[in-house]
Amino acid sequence: MENIERIPTHVAIIMDGNGRWAKALGKERYEGHIEGVDSVRECIKAARRNGVKYLTLYAFSTENWGRPAEEVNALMELFCKSVIAETPQLVEQGVRVVMIGRRDRFSERVCSHLEQIERETADGKHLTLVLAFDYSSRDEITTAVKALATKVAAGEIAVEDISEQSVSQSLYTADIPDPDFIIRTSGECRLSNFLLWQASYAEMYFPTTMWPDFKQEQFDQALEVYASRERRYGKL
Ligand code: IPE
Ligand code: IPE
Ligand code: MG
Repeated sequence: MENIERIPTHVAIIMDGNGRWAKALGKERYEGHIEGVDSVRECIKAARRNGVKYLTLYAFSTENWGRPAEEVNALMELFCKSVIAETPQLVEQGVRVVMIGRRDRFSERVCSHLEQIERETADGKHLTLVLAFDYSSRDEITTAVKALATKVAAGEIAVEDISEQSVSQSLYTADIPDPDFIIRTSGECRLSNFLLWQASYAEMYFPTTMWPDFKQEQFDQALEVYASRERRYGKL
């Protein structure tokens, strides 16, 4: 896949379809999540190989807390296990992990793994892996609005100082460029509260592949789709 002409700087993926993938094979939903971790590994490799600089993965939404406790606990456990198992390879591959989302609702155990992966991968230079975990866009924007309002109330900034740039800088994604390309697997065509502000000019792609079947080959194919798109940004 050396010949892809236009490589997006930032690819963001809504990893969807783990449960349906498992069900279709007569397995438990949890097994879909486990195979989904392999797809994460594969897409990190493909992103790095293609020269993508930022890869954002939607791993757990603020709405996902509404799933049965058994599934939520299994996902938290899988996150902790994956941090332990994957961190050495991430360090070796020069991948820096940054977490976006709320931090006030996790158990201490999950929080410590979250901090561990950020700390241990902090020097990665090849790829920034942004993990959206207890993330939702409206929650992020509300938090940003509160932060700006607090600064105005304290007299630190004037209302006139609020700009698109200062709003962007108040989001969890402050130092991360906007996504060029958003992929959602499983054929669902919606954003489900993901990067609503940041997605304003992103190209979108909705392959029907379930996330556990989305490996390096599918990632490369998605980049070909991106390369074929014409981006006009409102101009001619
Ligand atoms: C995506 O797969 C993983 C998470 C949301 C954590 P789903 O669990 O949503 O799988 P489907 O959509 O039910 O098939
Ligand atoms: C979106 O998938 C959230 C993640 C992939 C983490 P969901 O499966 O939770 O979204 P809906 O319910 O289909 O919109
Ligand atoms: Mg789903």
